[in-house]
Amino acid sequence: MPKRPYVIDEMISAKTIAARVEELSHQIHDEFSGTDKLVVVGLLRGSFVFIADLVRELDLPVEVDFIEASSYGNQTESSREVRILKDLRGEISGRDVLVVEDIVDTGHTLKHVVGLLNAKNPARLKTIALLDKPSRREVDMSADWIGFEIPDEFVVGYGIDFAQRNRNLAHIGKVRFTGE
Ligand code: IMP
Repeated sequence: MPKRPYVIDEMISAKTIAARVEELSHQIHDEFSGTDKLVVVGLLRGSFVFIADLVRELDLPVEVDFIEASSYGNQTESSREVRILKDLRGEISGRDVLVVEDIVDTGHTLKHVVGLLNAKNPARLKTIALLDKPSRREVDMSADWIGFEIPDEFVVGYGIDFAQRNRNLAHIGKVRFTGE
């Protein structure tokens, strides 16, 4: 549990998120229309709400799979080690794949996961992230679709946590520490 007290200031309302998810679903539909099955791969755990809303807006045959990665800062190099904690269950070779991320921050996680999945020879692999913090980027990586570009703020809600809390907020808010 976070030790410092904080409040959450609303940044993106539930209504605004829903409207954007609907818009994005149309663009994804246009990209993948005609596919026999789209494998939608969510990055655990932060993407679970986004992926649930997104697939319900998609009028396409979909399979849902998950992958969990965790990244560790490396004190000695300006690189991050990304470890896979849970791998895919299904096959993606020759399939159309959409990778769903909550936030692209430094970009290490998405870049690593895309590299791993591309090595499995999907027919087509695209990426979508609900949030993008371009000012934090450390590697050359961007998602094909972005819900919202945001400044360098720590955010929670809509599946995204602060020390495993606040994932169940319907909106996205920024964390503001209130002192001792
Ligand atoms: P990256 O490898 O630095 O791009 O890390 C992306 C991951 O860091 C995201 O999938 C989130 O789990 C986490 N993260 C980045 N920014 C935030 C934030 O503002 N709130 C909560 N988690 C975040």
